[in-house]
Amino acid sequence: MNPDPERVVIVGQGYVGLTLAVRAVEVGFDVVGIETDERRMAHLAAGESYIEDIGDEQLARCLASGRYTPTAEPRDCTGFDIAVVTVPTPLREGVPDLSFIEDSVRTLGWFLRRGATVILESTTYPGTTAELVRLILEEESGLSAGTDFHLGYSPERIDPGNPSWGIVNTPKVVSGIDADSLAAVQGFYDRLCESTVAVSSTQVAELTKLLENTFRHVNIALVNELAIFARALDVDVWEAIEAASTKPFGFMPFRPGPGVGGHCLPIDPSYLSWKVRQTIGQSFRFIELANDVNEHMPDYVVRRLMLALNERGRPVRGSRVLVLGLAYKRNTADARESPAIAVAERLVELGADVRAADPHVRDVVIDARVRRVEATAQEAAAADAVVLVTDHDRFDLDAIVASAPYVLDTCNRARGENVEKL
Ligand SMILES: NC(=O)c1ccc[n+]([C@@H]2O[C@H](COP(=O)([O-])OP(=O)(O)OC[C@H]3O[C@@H](n4cnc5c(N)ncnc54)[C@H](O)[C@@H]3O)[C@@H](O)[C@H]2O)c1
Repeated sequence: MNPDPERVVIVGQGYVGLTLAVRAVEVGFDVVGIETDERRMAHLAAGESYIEDIGDEQLARCLASGRYTPTAEPRDCTGFDIAVVTVPTPLREGVPDLSFIEDSVRTLGWFLRRGATVILESTTYPGTTAELVRLILEEESGLSAGTDFHLGYSPERIDPGNPSWGIVNTPKVVSGIDADSLAAVQGFYDRLCESTVAVSSTQVAELTKLLENTFRHVNIALVNELAIFARALDVDVWEAIEAASTKPFGFMPFRPGPGVGGHCLPIDPSYLSWKVRQTIGQSFRFIELANDVNEHMPDYVVRRLMLALNERGRPVRGSRVLVLGLAYKRNTADARESPAIAVAERLVELGADVRAADPHVRDVVIDARVRRVEATAQEAAAADAVVLVTDHDRFDLDAIVASAPYVLDTCNRARGENVEKL
């Protein structure tokens, strides 16, 4: 087996893949970043990053080093020592869609050589690496996993926009289908990250990622439901959460919100519940309950707005509502599965005149009747209600609250007599 791998192929140059590619270039690897999305490829070629955590200068340095080649051409995979797959793993009608993994792995199989290592990073259910990925690679290459090439899984933990924890200082869980594969996978990430955590199988590593995301999903659902009932009991849930957080052991705070978004929470736990149902025919009740609670939060936000407008003698139909934030996460441009879109579109369906402001989000697929505006005091003053869905630092909340007749704050950030918290 090759003792000093240098040529790395990373399939998928999204949040995960581009971050990994940049880091691998910075530590000295030769990196080929395969990307099928033409718009993303054009940005990469022009040295324009579409990911907040990677600056244009950082990307430009990688390109200038001559060791980073973004490309759409599968042939550029030729001669790789290490390949990492970081493609999307969505749900299609509630069922895991592994077609992106299958396509990428098939391509890698054509170029797989003896001694090379293939690592899956995409989030998926236990068994994907050791069964599906292995089978495709062996079929396409005619080689044998374990004997001829290494195969492993390493879940990604990046948290876009997090100023404290990034790819370098977040411990990286690593695994292989056998001891040699684990050594190859761990050796690679030891060059990229400060610490790696080896686990005994690829299935454990796959489950680790799903456990982390299911844990968040379920706990967010718990506080979301608590927020609804606490309001009905006329108790401030936010204050209770802050008070509970002073307990130095046995408690971890989660905060309510307008629903969950992004590529992870609305999707990953369902990979686990699907696998459980598929394999043993049982329902993973915690996940299904959490899905149910979290999916209903946008409806709850809309209901609260309806009640508030009603209090002011206004029907939703014809009322002007300013939605602040379209991204699912503060200070990011990521609007995938964003609950803000659900809130805005439900209001439109009810006949409201909906305007939405988000200084980070450029492109978003949303009902054309939602008008994009700037988050100005004038917009707030002209609205019948303002709903803060994503608390970007760039919003001047003081100016907005001072001008708006009514603000529904789903993030517990705004203060004022005219503000109601979720
Ligand atoms: N974004 C996160 O914070 C995060 C965190 C942890 C894990 N993950 C997981 O990592 C995986 C990737 O997530 P992401 O956020 O980077 O997704 P993303 O959509 O930003 O990036 C994936 C990229 O892969 C490209 N692609 C798809 N098929 C391809 C192919 N055959 N060849 C080359 N490129 C291809 C897409 O065009 C896209 O640009 C998912 O499984 C996700 O669940 C994401």
